[in-house]
Amino acid sequence: MKVRIIDANHKHGVVIQDKQFFVRTTRNVRASPVRKMEAVMKKNLSFTLNGAPRQLAVEEDRALLWILRADLGLTGCKYGCGMGLCGACTVLVNGEAVRSCVTLADEVEGKEVVTIEGLARNGNLHPLQKAFMEHDALQCGYCTPGMILTAYTLLMKNKKPSREEILNHMENNLCRCGSHPRIVQAIQTAAVEMNGGK
Ligand code: FES
Ligand code: FES
Repeated sequence: MKVRIIDANHKHGVVIQDKQFFVRTTRNVRASPVRKMEAVMKKNLSFTLNGAPRQLAVEEDRALLWILRADLGLTGCKYGCGMGLCGACTVLVNGEAVRSCVTLADEVEGKEVVTIEGLARNGNLHPLQKAFMEHDALQCGYCTPGMILTAYTLLMKNKKPSREEILNHMENNLCRCGSHPRIVQAIQTAAVEMNGGK
């Protein structure tokens, strides 16, 4: 019988296990002895994380989510679906919102990664962070880091998004608590503050 387990130390976070072998869900390949040897091969990854250079040895196909959460202790990005569908794991890579659960180490080599922990400046919360607090735009908060970073990429490109533009931009970030109306209000408030109150 197969049992689904979550293993933060596995390169993809999720494996399906039975008594004899492991199957990797993302490639659906049964692990042969060769693949097991490949699995332990590591690369030296260099990238910028929240403004500071970072270097660490990781498996080439380790997901960025586990590099951040398990290897570097930045637990702001969350593990939701593990398949790029919910947005809970969203971080910025070179200014674009990416799903860190399906982004591999190789894909961030030499790039700039920003997590929710890196959004505040000099101890001051980003206007989006403040607006989410003011509007109480969350319940459990699990989706919030991904929501804020996804909204950040909208406000970087569109200073005065309409309600419809906000809805379109955020529609692939899921909130199981149904906080969407307050999330939209928070993004509108942040947009006004970032525009100097206009
Ligand atoms: S955990 Fe990455 S998109 Fe859901
Ligand atoms: S606040 Fe709970 S999932 Fe969004």
